[in-house]
Amino acid sequence: MSQLITIERHILEQQKNFPEATGELTDLLSDVAFAAKLVRREVVRAGLVDILGFAGSTNVQGEEVKKLDLFANDKIINAIGQHGRFAIMGSEENEGIIIPPKNETGSYALLFDPLDGSSNIDVNVSVGTIFSIYRIKSSNPCNASISDCLQKGSEQVAAGYVIYGSSVVMVYTTGNGVHGFTYDPTIGEFLLSHENITTPESGKYYSINEGSYAQFNDGTKRYLDYIKEEDPATGRPYSTRYIGSLVADFHRNLLTGGVFVYPPTTKHPSGKLRLMYEANPLAFICEQAGGRATDGHRRILEIDPSELHQRTPLYIGSMADVKVAEEFEQGIR
Ligand code: AHG
Ligand code: MN
Ligand code: MN
Repeated sequence: MSQLITIERHILEQQKNFPEATGELTDLLSDVAFAAKLVRREVVRAGLVDILGFAGSTNVQGEEVKKLDLFANDKIINAIGQHGRFAIMGSEENEGIIIPPKNETGSYALLFDPLDGSSNIDVNVSVGTIFSIYRIKSSNPCNASISDCLQKGSEQVAAGYVIYGSSVVMVYTTGNGVHGFTYDPTIGEFLLSHENITTPESGKYYSINEGSYAQFNDGTKRYLDYIKEEDPATGRPYSTRYIGSLVADFHRNLLTGGVFVYPPTTKHPSGKLRLMYEANPLAFICEQAGGRATDGHRRILEIDPSELHQRTPLYIGSMADVKVAEEFEQGIR
């Protein structure tokens, strides 16, 4: 039998690559893995207990919120906040920043989407959690402010996601490759299952909500015509795969190759997805795996953020496939 490596053990081993590390980042990544276990426990029971349906409120983006979103948000804030490892947090479900009760010791900022793809909860389709971690710029954690959260994605020290699917998988990077762990419910541990994930140079899937076709610009429309043309030399037509949970669409394309596009639309001229806790962490992971992530014009990781809930168009996935999609967006093709 091959050796079983838990995520906590793996994070600890990775720390040895950074001799100056204090262990703080290792501890807080372990906290995130713990919070993921709590969210998983509820997500897999969602059909059994009476927590399905709308919470009756809207989130700060003006979108309807389901109970499990709020539950996941509370669990993550409480599980992580209590250890004092984060000075500051920002969540999709909170309009402002969150200062944990014990912020005096933490040197990091955590940004997260507690439950991604929440429209899929009621129908037993994969959902996820996405997170992004920065070192705060303030020397005193008590002075941490929104500017500690609004750093470029290139400053991330760690990022990851959890996908609650047919199995539960946690994927993370600290800038030293991308590693995936599958949850074993019999022992309550995430075990190393995908070491050093690399994404194919190109794939056979394209993922976009084509129902919004009428809202797309000409570049996106021409791209969709192109990707469906018959051309064996370039592997076209590509197959459509679109789940509507970013984490699940991204995870599949990361492993199989392909491209995910959420372009500007007339409804969302700056894109729908959020830069700080959706695009940035996945862009960090994608680049670490050898892929590419842009807003159609610039690298996601180089965007200078101005707002916690800022939106961005997103072109992410296999290097060659993303470049083609961008060329249509830029009018080069
Ligand atoms: P969330 O559930 O966190 O609000 O995110 C939903 C997002 C993302 O997961 C997905 O890729 C996208 O919304 C789907 O949007 P469309 O329904 O417009 O395709
Ligand atoms: Mn989301
Ligand atoms: Mn969400």
